Amino acid sequence: MIETLIFAHRGSKGTHPENTSAAFKEAVRLGVDGIELDVHLTKDNELVVIHDETVDRTTNGSGYVKEMTLAEIKSLDAGSWFSSKFESETIPTLSEVLELLKDTKIILNIEIKNDLVHYEGIEAKVLAEIEKYSYKDRIIVSSFNHQSIAKIKKQDKEIETALLTMIELDDPVQYANKLGAAAIHVYEPVAFSNMTKNVMENNLPVRTFTINDEKKMKQLISNGISAIMTDYPEKAMAIRDLIK
Ligand code: G3P
Ligand code: MG
Repeated sequence: MIETLIFAHRGSKGTHPENTSAAFKEAVRLGVDGIELDVHLTKDNELVVIHDETVDRTTNGSGYVKEMTLAEIKSLDAGSWFSSKFESETIPTLSEVLELLKDTKIILNIEIKNDLVHYEGIEAKVLAEIEKYSYKDRIIVSSFNHQSIAKIKKQDKEIETALLTMIELDDPVQYANKLGAAAIHVYEPVAFSNMTKNVMENNLPVRTFTINDEKKMKQLISNGISAIMTDYPEKAMAIRDLIK
């Protein structure tokens, strides 16, 4: 059976402020197989790593990312909301994270967060950033916006993409093939469904988010799921070691 890979969701989100350098460095220190992060576009067209459309929840500022310049975004404290220990953390650019991971073997899953806000040209911008680095072969681009995935594949045949879904899809393998997606990333309940079993049997990888419960980790690893995205990668890696 193929070994389940462990991806740090938004970095090591359970122990560090999500989508910050601190969270990504912790994932590197743990030796995870992959890191997942989310990207949005600023007013001045820069790719920044943050989950929400606004900066309100994870910084000391407020407002939409799309209405702020990179300089404004960079002036925010993205760590104190989690713990005063992380007050020096800022919102990283995608380029900063690509730089951080360049000398590792870690798979980088870039989730384009454009299901609620339309960011004109974000697909081309993401591809251009990736091109600046020489590890395109360990990068996966995913999105809940499946048209965006189709666009990515049209612009770059080589890049690996994945469809994100909260629900079971009709004819998932055919649908993924049509859009050029090489994997499906499913919300936890879907990971236990017949759809997942069927997709895996058809040799299309299924990765699942966000698995923080030990029992579910054990079950999914035993089922041979392709990858688990978790806020607690250290725990997931320890469980995988026990199962081996
Ligand atoms: O990419 C997997 C997962 O991150 C999708 O959900 O809301 O945590 O970005 P969310
Ligand atoms: Mg995400």
